[in-house]
Amino acid sequence: MLRLRKAKSAVPNRDAAGDRLPRHIAIIMDGNGRWAQQRMLPRTAGHRAGVGAVRKTVEYCLSKGIQALTLFAFSSENWRRPAQEVSLLMELFIASLEQETEKLHENGVKLRVIGERGAFADKLQARISASEELTSQNRRLDLTIAANYGGRWDIVQAARRVAQDVENRLLSASEIDTARFECHLALSDLPEPDLFIRTGGERRISNFLLWQLAYTELYFTPVLWPDFDETVLDAALEDYAGRQRRFGCTGEQVEDSTPG
Ligand code: IPE
Ligand code: IPE
Ligand code: MG
Repeated sequence: MLRLRKAKSAVPNRDAAGDRLPRHIAIIMDGNGRWAQQRMLPRTAGHRAGVGAVRKTVEYCLSKGIQALTLFAFSSENWRRPAQEVSLLMELFIASLEQETEKLHENGVKLRVIGERGAFADKLQARISASEELTSQNRRLDLTIAANYGGRWDIVQAARRVAQDVENRLLSASEIDTARFECHLALSDLPEPDLFIRTGGERRISNFLLWQLAYTELYFTPVLWPDFDETVLDAALEDYAGRQRRFGCTGEQVEDSTPG
């Protein structure tokens, strides 16, 4: 069945003060290793500290009424890191799911993981499925963790599914269009990210949501992920609220169609 992306509403999401608020925020949580190195600690200490910043960010998004938060936790390229660091990251992932799922559920958070999960240990795969199942009916915040995720992988797996539909004669090649393609991508049931944040100072996408970020507002901060907090997120939200999103139109067209 075709799962079409939810239509973009013409009315922007706003906070209590009337400022434009993103519906969906996507974050590359970068800088854990440097945070630890600055303190003469092993890189893994930075990853441990990063879990606290995730907790704070989820809580703040809940309090602000953000509808969707997508966090890049482990890229398909991060397997290239030293084995010890990779295994600590996997352990942290399991431990965090074990410790946080119940609280997320109580707070109405729907948790899901995107990426090629078949590469994870059985125990982690089972833990992910259990957390997703428990929280599947929640509606307050869509929290997505991208793990063993790559934007190129996402596009290729969607292409494979479309090709399968053609092979099964459900679709002809000429019928493939943007909507029919993107319904096979991760996050196709959510509005596209309005705001992308990367911490840690690098200004690159690093194979995150390549398709989905086509019209997302990009925000880069030098703050290292373990130091990310409400103040940094507020600065990003303020910056976002001041931007004009044109989607190919002219500034005048956008002004004419903006209510009030
Ligand atoms: C992000 O922090 C966490 C992961 C990629 C898993 P890094 O570990 O990349 O931190 P830096 O960039 O080396 O400081
Ligand atoms: C991107 O960070 C991936 C995650 C934060 C999970 P990296 O630290 O892996 O990115 P590069 O290697 O600097 O581009
Ligand atoms: Mg990094």
